[in-house]
Amino acid sequence: MNFELTIAKIAEIKADLELILVIDNDFKHHFVQDKKLLKKAGFEGGQDETCLLIGENRLYVGAGSLESTALRTATASAMKALLGKNYKHIKVSTYTNKGCTYSLRAMVEGFILGDYTFETYKSQKNESKIKHITISLDEYNGMALDIEKASVQVHKAQIIADATNFTRDIVNTTPDDCYPEVMASIAEGMAEDVGLKCHVLKPKQLKKEKMETLLAVARASRHTPRVIHLTHKPKKAKMKVTLVGKGLTYDSGGLSLKPADYMVTMKSDKSGGSAVMGIMKAIAEMDLPIEVHGFIGAVENMIGGDAYKPDDVLVAKNGKTIEVRNTDAEGRLVLADVLCYAQQEVRSDYIFDFATLTGACVVGVGHYTSGVMGNSDEVKAMVVKEAKNAGELATALDFNPYLKKTIKSEIADICNISNTRYGGAITAGQFLSEFIDKKHTDKWAHIDIAGPAFVEHAWGENPHGASGAGVRLMVKLLEKLAK
Ligand code: BES
Ligand code: ZN
Ligand code: ZN
Repeated sequence: MNFELTIAKIAEIKADLELILVIDNDFKHHFVQDKKLLKKAGFEGGQDETCLLIGENRLYVGAGSLESTALRTATASAMKALLGKNYKHIKVSTYTNKGCTYSLRAMVEGFILGDYTFETYKSQKNESKIKHITISLDEYNGMALDIEKASVQVHKAQIIADATNFTRDIVNTTPDDCYPEVMASIAEGMAEDVGLKCHVLKPKQLKKEKMETLLAVARASRHTPRVIHLTHKPKKAKMKVTLVGKGLTYDSGGLSLKPADYMVTMKSDKSGGSAVMGIMKAIAEMDLPIEVHGFIGAVENMIGGDAYKPDDVLVAKNGKTIEVRNTDAEGRLVLADVLCYAQQEVRSDYIFDFATLTGACVVGVGHYTSGVMGNSDEVKAMVVKEAKNAGELATALDFNPYLKKTIKSEIADICNISNTRYGGAITAGQFLSEFIDKKHTDKWAHIDIAGPAFVEHAWGENPHGASGAGVRLMVKLLEKLAK
């Protein structure tokens, strides 16, 4: 999709369709002659409500306010309403919150995110035909906008939304089409396209690196595991950041097999790793002045004669022993080794990990919100704040010493599950903290994206299925750190 910014008045622009946002029920920009039609159609201008006036070639969409979140979901809803229709070129005015060009970024993000469909496995496609969007700097409140500043935001929005859609595509791909080797080749191809370094570790090297817990999880699968290391190394880097992603291309639960109903959608267990790939793509394209390393543990958790078992004791890369009591708590085992490897390879100012780690996180905070954990209140607060600025929902879940005791083991250094039914997101986070070196203790945050990464209905600017959770959040945070 192409975007064109112009100082031309909206009425002077030729297009198939005009999009008009109705802000907070204020119909001041509607065409007088449309009033009756809109009324007849029952259009009230509520947030994300759409009304297509076919004869007039105008699409009306409601937005509750001029806040970024409202504008983003409004433009996304407009695109969703146009899926399967034959409009190719639309025009729209600019709606800003007091002239701030971030509003424009939100609008453009909404257009691209709302236009997303995943139809790889459909014979009949229902994709959007819109190829061109012309945005007039005709502003809703008559603000004069700087076209240079505006176009910078449009460009950033395109990079971020495209990267989010890239992540969505990987997550939505079936486990038979996307297994660890494929994850690695997607990473290599993307790295080549945007100019990142990409190093892939295969089983032999994983063995040499003593990543025995990761290898144990992978053992029963016919698809061998990979650890992917992507590097963005600009000339004048302000700081170093490490990202780590859980890339379970399928999670059957292993011998602690998941019940049938819970196994469906577990292709999405690679969402953390896929988010790391999308983030790396975006920051390379933006050429952010920060050195960023992305590590992805790509593994398939299956059953078979060679499967790792409840009762096994595994030795992680840092030498800690882990009693396995449930093979479905595999994400933390994979992440333990990848976190150790990442810290051995790079000493960073911050470490962030992304994982669809626990169902408990979804139970606790719902489907739309990520859980943010770690040892530093400051780092957690920074993640929560930037999530909000980026249009994602995240909330801090605090560690405590009582829950920490529940992952003690009688026979090893630590157990891979807790002895209580409650607080599962936090105990998983506290398990991971055992694999964070002292030097990184207060520089790490764990982001459990089990809820928002994959939802089986459309919500806000997100489609049914993968949302690309974590991408917008982390790009925004990295932009902030780069300032
Ligand atoms: N991948 C799952 C967590 C998950 C559940 C992600 C639902 C997305 C939606 C993870 O590997 C898992 O199975 N966790 C177990 C841990 C338990 C055995 C301690 C869980 O949450 O039930
Ligand atoms: Zn699992
Ligand atoms: Zn899992």
